[in-house]
Amino acid sequence: MWLLNSSIGRKLIMSISGVFLLLFLIFHLCMNVTAVFSEEAYNMICTLLGVNWYAVAATVVLAAIIAIHFIYATLLTLQNRKARGNDRYDVNVRPKGVSWASQNMFVLGVIIIGFMLLHFSQFWYKMMFAELLGNHEVELGGTLVSPQNGAAFIRYYFSHLWVVIAYLIWYVALWFHLTHGIWSALQTVGWNNTLWYNRWKTIGNIVATLIFLGFAFVTIVFYLKSLCGGAC
Ligand code: HEM
Repeated sequence: MWLLNSSIGRKLIMSISGVFLLLFLIFHLCMNVTAVFSEEAYNMICTLLGVNWYAVAATVVLAAIIAIHFIYATLLTLQNRKARGNDRYDVNVRPKGVSWASQNMFVLGVIIIGFMLLHFSQFWYKMMFAELLGNHEVELGGTLVSPQNGAAFIRYYFSHLWVVIAYLIWYVALWFHLTHGIWSALQTVGWNNTLWYNRWKTIGNIVATLIFLGFAFVTIVFYLKSLCGGAC
């Protein structure tokens, strides 16, 4: 049971679950970028990933991975605090080479999950969950739409400036979390020789930045589209 009880075992579970979440994020991003270029194609994907058994099964697996990642993050944070004892109350300068993100991974994770709850209430709850309840239409800004009309949801929510700002803050927290997370995961699984130490850091930063830019692109494009009221 070293995987569950030892520090390295817990870090390994964090890394593997983190890599799965990263893969989901890349898939989710590719799917959402489609909406910018073709709302029709996006809705086709939403229909495909509606309440089909494989989509529901994937959601259950995803929820389990998020839960595992969060539970182990909490265990590791508590373990680190216990090991450091009262030292954490000392005023200390961040050592050279240690990033701000690496020291705030848990807080960043909590912020990300907080925004995720907002995201679920706006999208997942009114789409997949509504479909699971057997609803063929849901209320969105005073009109009834199909829960499979994902483009309508994006258009509606990203026409509100406060939503756009909230999501951009979410993406910034995600960027910080990923810059350290990707690098740390690859270190834990053993790809940590001196040659690749800095390379993984650079690769992690590039992947995190592309994910940030992709989500921000979708959000901002839909906000700008809403400003010209369907005329562009
Ligand atoms: C441009 C930004 C985004 C858009 C337009 C978007 C859109 C959507 C939509 C339409 C759904 C519902 C799919 C369905 O239930 O059929 C969804 C679900 C979800 N989103 Fe996003 N999303 C965005 C950003 C994000 C980000 C940044 C994250 C994670 C940090 C995320 C995590 C999730 C998760 C975990 C689900 C549930 C997936 C499932 O049901 O299997 N989304 N999103």
